[in-house]
Amino acid sequence: MTNKVKNRIIQLRKDLSEYNYQYYVQNQSLISDYDFDVLLKELEDLENSYPEFSDENSPTKRVGGDITKNFPSIKHQYPMLSLSNSYSKDEIIDFEKRVIKLIDQDVAFTCELKYDGVAISLTYLDGKLLRAVTRGDGERGEDVTANARTINSIPLQLRGNYPKRFEIRGEVVFPHKAFNLLNEKRKQNNEQLFSNPRNTASGTMKMHDSSVVAKRNLDCYLYGLYSDKLLFDSSFEVFDELAKWGFKSPSSNNRYVEKVNSIDGVMDFINYWDKERSNLPFDIDGVVIKVDRLDFQNELGSTAKSPRWAIAYKFKAERVSTTLEKISYQVGRTGAITPVAFLKPIQLGGTIVKRASIHNADQMSKLNLHLGDTVFVEKGGEIIPKIIEVDFSKRSEESKPAKFISKCPECNSDLVRNEGEAQHYCKNEINCPPQIKGAIEHFVGRKRMDIDGFGSETVDLLYENNLINNFSDIYDLSYNDLIPLERIAEKSASNLIKSIEASKAVPFERVLFSLGIRHVGETVAKKLAKYFKTIYRLMLATLEELVEVDEIGDKIAVSLIEYFNNDKQKLVINNLINHGLNFTIVEEDQNSDVFKGMNIVVSGKFNSLSRDEIKKLIQENGGKVVSSVSSKTDLLVAGENMGAK
Ligand code: IVH
Repeated sequence: MTNKVKNRIIQLRKDLSEYNYQYYVQNQSLISDYDFDVLLKELEDLENSYPEFSDENSPTKRVGGDITKNFPSIKHQYPMLSLSNSYSKDEIIDFEKRVIKLIDQDVAFTCELKYDGVAISLTYLDGKLLRAVTRGDGERGEDVTANARTINSIPLQLRGNYPKRFEIRGEVVFPHKAFNLLNEKRKQNNEQLFSNPRNTASGTMKMHDSSVVAKRNLDCYLYGLYSDKLLFDSSFEVFDELAKWGFKSPSSNNRYVEKVNSIDGVMDFINYWDKERSNLPFDIDGVVIKVDRLDFQNELGSTAKSPRWAIAYKFKAERVSTTLEKISYQVGRTGAITPVAFLKPIQLGGTIVKRASIHNADQMSKLNLHLGDTVFVEKGGEIIPKIIEVDFSKRSEESKPAKFISKCPECNSDLVRNEGEAQHYCKNEINCPPQIKGAIEHFVGRKRMDIDGFGSETVDLLYENNLINNFSDIYDLSYNDLIPLERIAEKSASNLIKSIEASKAVPFERVLFSLGIRHVGETVAKKLAKYFKTIYRLMLATLEELVEVDEIGDKIAVSLIEYFNNDKQKLVINNLINHGLNFTIVEEDQNSDVFKGMNIVVSGKFNSLSRDEIKKLIQENGGKVVSSVSSKTDLLVAGENMGAK
């Protein structure tokens, strides 16, 4: 019986590997997705029932699921060097001359794409993927095998006549299609967008949950074979062999790799890809030129940093020209005003570009923009590309200079620009709609109050229906408020109320971060919470006391004082205290001296604790409860209906 099972498992693995290879390496579909999934499920069930036949390179492992707590550091058998880079063709000519002089005869070159992703080293033993390691510092990298296994174009089991042990190097890239799809999904879920495929590929390879990596559909392109003995004569020839072993190898059919006999051939390759790279399904940032003969490569050797037998020619960032149709002004969560250029849509590096950022007023005047100008646009590391310059030769005589606005486009308040700052601000944080909504979105965010189901659409909906006007209103929401709203079903209404309630347990440092005080991010909030222990002390702190705290400078201190001097902000905090949010560090030992030496008046009605319980807490924590407000009062804990106090 078990023999039968074993044979079936082996057959299924073989078939599934073949379908996988045909699909991801040869671009051919031999079976429908449904039939593939049925076979995969059968294999999964058998492997679960007969764990003695499990194999880490089984096709079932491609869906991931292994959780890697930390990635062990592995020493590379052959150090992972870098390439010397050049941006000029003259340097490529110098490279060729240098090589010919050293070798003392004409040489052929292999020209390859310089894939813009993250380097990976794959070791195979007896035809099976043994280990995948990142570049790290070139000497040692991290073992990311579980994640590499989920990349369909990396074979887990080789075919043909492969050497017993070897290492292969390549680049893991995020194909444009998969990257754009991921960002579309993130947009729908109100998650922050990833800015570029390279960094995202690199971040993805370091994720701890390989099943998330599997869903991202990364790809891998290969460029080098390493082993103890020289297996082939030419680096170009290696690619044909790799294809026979089941690798997705670059090929001369699509000009991803080409062998040339002279510098003219190298220049043709460079010129071809400089134009054509925008049509590739992934990013490249140049081409790599290598001496083709492997014995010559050995002879030339390497410096400490890079081989003498190869050079990279890097392309200048891709740039296109298009028309500037209008400039709009966005008001951010903190009131910062950002001019945004709206462009005639144009294709740039795998995406269609419609907008470009201009950053601020200085940048706008430096560029000397007129509406209707033809502008050059370039992609940097950001999601939104930049305007680099105006094509003045195309400027129309009638066009008018773009002028920075003086009033907030949302609430019409005067804009302010502080000395030494580049940004204009709308200071009407309490009544300016994007600032109100932005502050609420920030408050409910994952690293802050973490209220599930409270995305920007919900914020818009509740704000537009006058149900929330600041974040303390969130805690007044009831199930009955939500139910009449279109787009909120019963289940989501009750879940939302539950997560609002649960957020009351969020610790003080995160509550402080949630308030959205300018310059008070996660780390600063932690430092302040640890130092002052309670909001009451923090609210009373002077500038001198604030700058005493490690890493708190004048800028943060002034921002805190301004915030706590604002009556409307104080009212919001007071409401939050009444709703029972944590405004004091909860310490193991409840009895602290956080209120030591303070005279405190408790007045009004409270929802979460009784007045006596509050008084008891104050006393247990070193404070003195006094009955009426006087010049000696340090703190007033104010509930509802507290009268004239
Ligand atoms: S050959 C000794 N070929 O570029 C270095 N590298 O700056 C041998 N890269 O870390 C590298 N495409 O991650 C080579 N066709 C290609 C490449 C390539 C991308 C990356 C690789 C390397 C970096 C070197």
